[in-house]
Amino acid sequence: MTPETNRNSNFYRPPKTGRKSQREAEYYASSNAGMSNTHLANRQAFYRHRLIPNQLIDTNNRSTKTTIFNHSVSAPIGFAPIGINKIYNPAGEAAVSKVASELNLPYCLSTAGSTSIEKVASANGAGTRFFQLYMPHDDELTVSLLTRAWENGFDALILTTDTWQLGWRHDDVASSNYAFYRGFGADLGLSDPVFRRRCVADGIDPDVDVVAASTKWIDSVWHGRAWSWEKIPWLMETWRGISGGRPFVIKGIQSVGDARRCVELGVEGIVVSNHAGRQVDGAVASLDALERIAEAVGERIYVMFDSGVRGASDVVKALALGARFVFIGRLWIWGLSIQGEDGVRHVMKSLLADLDILMGVAGFNGVEDFNRDILESDSKNYTLMQKNL
Ligand code: GLV
Repeated sequence: MTPETNRNSNFYRPPKTGRKSQREAEYYASSNAGMSNTHLANRQAFYRHRLIPNQLIDTNNRSTKTTIFNHSVSAPIGFAPIGINKIYNPAGEAAVSKVASELNLPYCLSTAGSTSIEKVASANGAGTRFFQLYMPHDDELTVSLLTRAWENGFDALILTTDTWQLGWRHDDVASSNYAFYRGFGADLGLSDPVFRRRCVADGIDPDVDVVAASTKWIDSVWHGRAWSWEKIPWLMETWRGISGGRPFVIKGIQSVGDARRCVELGVEGIVVSNHAGRQVDGAVASLDALERIAEAVGERIYVMFDSGVRGASDVVKALALGARFVFIGRLWIWGLSIQGEDGVRHVMKSLLADLDILMGVAGFNGVEDFNRDILESDSKNYTLMQKNL
């Protein structure tokens, strides 16, 4: 897939070849909010920080390993929660979570996934997995999802707060590119006893009218109804009750004020994320937000990062700016689109190799070596980059 220029020049445009459904999937994965300015800002922010390599360091025994919520993993890299994987490849989330387990990297299942909680758990086996929640406005349904997640080995709960409504994404809107209304992305609902009861109460047989049930599902977890901070203690308490106190994380934090609020509420972790530039156009770069947030609360809460990571040097920069862990999204979606399970494996193994080699040649022996001293930062240089995946 070659990037092409279109009317939003910072926007990845898939080639006009392949099946229509494949093109729609690629458009969906590559779409951003508005004019893609937040997406560009994400990439520019990485570009403004440069690594300073050190020489004649014995890195022969270097290690990329780290821990997250008491799990030892291969690297400070995880699979970000992304829904509807089956629009990219029929193997869907099962294939992705299988690869995550093989590579010993944490996998996050999205509430908008196209494979049930139980099937993902089975494919992920002994892997480390977390459950990402889009919180329904139906507490009984929320409790049912959390219970299933916990009973199936999902060991942390990640509430995403920035996407209770999809951002304004021109091309998806213009082409009605919305697989959820065509029967994809409802598998967590279709396999849920509470949601199935809700369908029947509305006269929908979820086994017969999958499109109506899917539409109901996505409208139950998204679309036009915001939550507020007042609901967070209930969710934390509910999850802790179900899981015996496993970590609760909020994803989508971009302001120091919100990060402080998470600390005050006793949230265990935050993911500094602007949803890869897909929600608010013209927003602050997630990496810039990270820098400020880590400085303010990094000692008091486990800070993670996503949005715009395209290679190992981006991972290292985010860690140097205070993240303890980094999640990857679009990279493995491209791999899944192009070559299914093998594509995901290839992309993520390549990223691990990239990280290992970067550490070797830049003089870093472990993740503890990544700190502000390894960066030169240039606040004026915003020049970037026609090729902007
Ligand atoms: C959903 O999470 C999306 O960004 O489309």
